[in-house]
Amino acid sequence: MGIFDRFSRVYLYPGAGKFQARFGFGVAGICWLLYGCASNAPVAEVVPAPDTTITVRAGTTGKPISPELFGIFFEDINYAADGGLYAELVQNRSFEYSSKDRKEWQALTAWELVQRGDGHGSVTVEKGAPRYAGNPILAFLNGAETSIHPNNPHYAVLAVTTGGAGVGLANAGFDGIALKAGDEYDVSLFARQLVGSGGPVTVRLEGKNGALLGETVLPNPTGIWTKYSATIEAMATADDARLVVLTQGEGRLALDMISLFPHKTFRNRPNGLRADLAQVIADLNPKFVRFPGGCLVHGDGLDNMYRWKDTIGPLEQRREQRNLWGYHQSVGLGYFEYFQFAEDIGATPLPVVAAGVCCQNSGAWITGKWGEGQEGLPEQVMPAYIQDVLDLVEYANGPVTSTWGARRAAAGHPEPFNLKYLGVGNEDRITPAFNERFAMIYNAVKEKHPEITVIGTVGPFPDGEDYDKGWKIADQLKLPLVDEHGYKPPQWYWDNLERFDKYDRSRSKVYLGEWAAHDEERRTTLRSALAEAAYMTALERNADHVVMASYAPLLAKRGHTQWNPDLIYFTNTDVVPTVNYYMQQLFSVNSGDTYLPARVEGVKHAEKFAFSSVRDSGSGDLILKVVNAAASAKSLRIELPGVGGMASTAVKTVLGGGDPMDVNDFDQPQRFLPDTSTLAVGPAFDYEAPPYSLTIIRIQGTGKK
Ligand code: AHR
Repeated sequence: MGIFDRFSRVYLYPGAGKFQARFGFGVAGICWLLYGCASNAPVAEVVPAPDTTITVRAGTTGKPISPELFGIFFEDINYAADGGLYAELVQNRSFEYSSKDRKEWQALTAWELVQRGDGHGSVTVEKGAPRYAGNPILAFLNGAETSIHPNNPHYAVLAVTTGGAGVGLANAGFDGIALKAGDEYDVSLFARQLVGSGGPVTVRLEGKNGALLGETVLPNPTGIWTKYSATIEAMATADDARLVVLTQGEGRLALDMISLFPHKTFRNRPNGLRADLAQVIADLNPKFVRFPGGCLVHGDGLDNMYRWKDTIGPLEQRREQRNLWGYHQSVGLGYFEYFQFAEDIGATPLPVVAAGVCCQNSGAWITGKWGEGQEGLPEQVMPAYIQDVLDLVEYANGPVTSTWGARRAAAGHPEPFNLKYLGVGNEDRITPAFNERFAMIYNAVKEKHPEITVIGTVGPFPDGEDYDKGWKIADQLKLPLVDEHGYKPPQWYWDNLERFDKYDRSRSKVYLGEWAAHDEERRTTLRSALAEAAYMTALERNADHVVMASYAPLLAKRGHTQWNPDLIYFTNTDVVPTVNYYMQQLFSVNSGDTYLPARVEGVKHAEKFAFSSVRDSGSGDLILKVVNAAASAKSLRIELPGVGGMASTAVKTVLGGGDPMDVNDFDQPQRFLPDTSTLAVGPAFDYEAPPYSLTIIRIQGTGKK
């Protein structure tokens, strides 16, 4: 170890080493520089020198950086899933919204009765579970008014007394429906003619004032729930369209699962993801995807826990539920889709399951009793709960001949998803109820699936009671990895750059599962992003022990945000990556696999400066990262003793500059963008780091293995 292995703030005259070697009185030289007092100093040697000298031990073996250091954490918060990444354009497609989701919501939220011409009718939402769910042969035995599946009990019934020019329903989408001229949209719905002979069902895309933007006609529904599908081409671009479903057939028509998807989804997956948003996430080059939460996982009360089995299989059979962030989870983006997304972007899946307890803040919005709402699943249901957790591993990795592997194969993925990690618990209060349940789950997974790395939790904060108690259990159970969280002001990150240097390497490794610098008004300022960049240099230095990290939260939809700051903001048509996003991206694509020690001389203690040097063995590139969060430029002398054959120019990427309190926003989405150019380099070269900036210097050919 020693000083070369840590970021050092040694306050020395940059040339002191050479000076001392030649003249033998380096201290006087330092004194001269600092105080101008060394009247006997050899004046001839004094030339304008860079503020800071960085000496990278480029020829050393260095220490390994975890290959999964930078990843993402996806949680359905801020409309990240429904109305966001999940490409479904119809809101409340299954009529399952209720006042449990949000006080003012009900089963017809986002829907409106439409009566065209002389058409006359009404709409109600009915509820009734079928006895012969999923059995098309026996389906006709179900009573006249039963739903498609017990998990999906509500459906709309149009009672049409006069067909006129059509009676039906219009859906407003999530803040309107965005359409692009010439693009195709896949429409589908379940229908059942309950009374009367009915008629064909027309599906229209309509713009403002009912302007027709596309149309299709579906066959006359039968007396059995049947799925009807078609594709509509949009005739014009619009950002506030509606979907309208109409019938002229008199009688009673039941409708459910009314859906509209862009045909072009990310990687063209059916039931897929919004291509532009998914691509921006993929561009982060995340090495892992943690999902589906966050607090969403342990839930607001035991009945709100996220249960993975409710989120797989045919959409009409999934069990929807309240989202504790104040809206609804259609779970159309469910476990299969999460696994598939991770695979599509080349990331390791990292699902998190509840540790058999619900969130300690359960009910607190009503009771005001924050931190006191944790409850444990009753002892008698724990075996079934643990079996669910084991089944998840089988769903991800089991052979197609296994029960859950067969379910994965039926969804179109016979190959395993290569699950390696499983998070158990999220920021839970570490109580006896938690300890007992966590240990039961951990021991069961360890015994049945020793190949899976279980990740424990050490509370919501980077210190305090739950942190200490969480670490105690981690020590007792010898957990391989724990999930640490922390949201702190930018200065905290600067003050804690050496936090992980002090972690005992014999204890559990660390996954920094949720973190972000929270600036004033929780804005995504350049100042916050620079603090994060500095912290990431410390993560790289400690990436033998802090093996994974993910900024949180990832996504936020304008007008539907419960939590700021977030990494990416979006509307139905626009995506705004924050400056913090680009910081994460630059570290992720330049993370390297070997940390190279460096000596940094000439940085004052309180200065906001950070540096890291890594090597990427695959390409042989040496990658230097310089964070200068000061108001003035910093001139650097960079020395690379021991460097192998190297190119004379490097790729230089600079992010930042400008007002540190500025942000990327919808008005100026590109205020801060990485700027790439070339830089002349050599075994020793000078570089001036601009104020308020991150610079990445990527030097080719320094020793490809
Ligand atoms: O990232 C937002 C929330 O912060 C997560 O749901 C929770 O784990 C944490 O408190």
